[in-house]
Amino acid sequence: MGQAVNLLSVENVTRQYDDVGGEALPVLRGVSFTLDAGQSLAILGASGSGKSTLLNIVGGLDLPDAGRVVLDGHTLAEHDAEALARVRNEQVGFVFQLHHLLPQCTVLENVLVPALVRGRAAADAAVARAQQLLEQVGLAERLSHRPAQLSGGERQRVAVVRALINEPKLLLADEPTGALDHAHAVQLVELLLELVVEQNVALVMVTHAADLAARCDRVCHLRGGAFVDGAA
Ligand SMILES: Nc1ncnc2c1ncn2[C@@H]1O[C@H](COP(=O)(O)OP(=O)(O)O)[C@@H](O)[C@H]1O
Ligand SMILES: [Mg+2]
Repeated sequence: MGQAVNLLSVENVTRQYDDVGGEALPVLRGVSFTLDAGQSLAILGASGSGKSTLLNIVGGLDLPDAGRVVLDGHTLAEHDAEALARVRNEQVGFVFQLHHLLPQCTVLENVLVPALVRGRAAADAAVARAQQLLEQVGLAERLSHRPAQLSGGERQRVAVVRALINEPKLLLADEPTGALDHAHAVQLVELLLELVVEQNVALVMVTHAADLAARCDRVCHLRGGAFVDGAA
């Protein structure tokens, strides 16, 4: 029918956890949204509202009980484990609250890890892109530093570059500024939004800071397991 297809389509996703007592804990009760390349969406919600659960499902780290996630025309749940791992590595970039950089590796080596997963040749081919992106985020002089030699803001910028190294279509950030002071948090979000446009990726950013969320193209509030309108 010539219908436009969104890069990301999250359709009526539900997820519940099994409690120790055998009772089900419904966390997501039917969440839907779409997102296109070059667009940013912020998800706001209180602690425990299911933001990480949702982001993990969107990134294929977890599967929904019902509903589906369609990325670039493919339903994630239809991939076998190997194909899903490849989608996560090649099409999705993850940034977390804690940088998860390897302490014994340099900045450049850390950034190349997701490329190395695809083989030595892929990592070699990604060196120029790594250097260019690190320069762009202001870390040109830090390529040989270890994570312990960097500030918190610098470490998160390395994590952002690592997430982008394989030229993903989708960037998922789970409270990426949670460990930063406000000034550095604003800087990191500005940088993310610049890169979203320049690299033409779609960004879903989870945060509990309304002022940071407001910088994104769209803001959704997660409450009671669903997106609600208005203030959280
Ligand atoms: N693996 C799990 N098993 C059982 N309960 C979980 C699990 N992960 C998260 N939860 C519960 O689900 C709810 C949502 O968690 P989460 O998605 O981490 O929220 P948020 O990221 O918004 O803080 C919380 O009540 C949490 O305790
Ligand atoms: Mg969380």
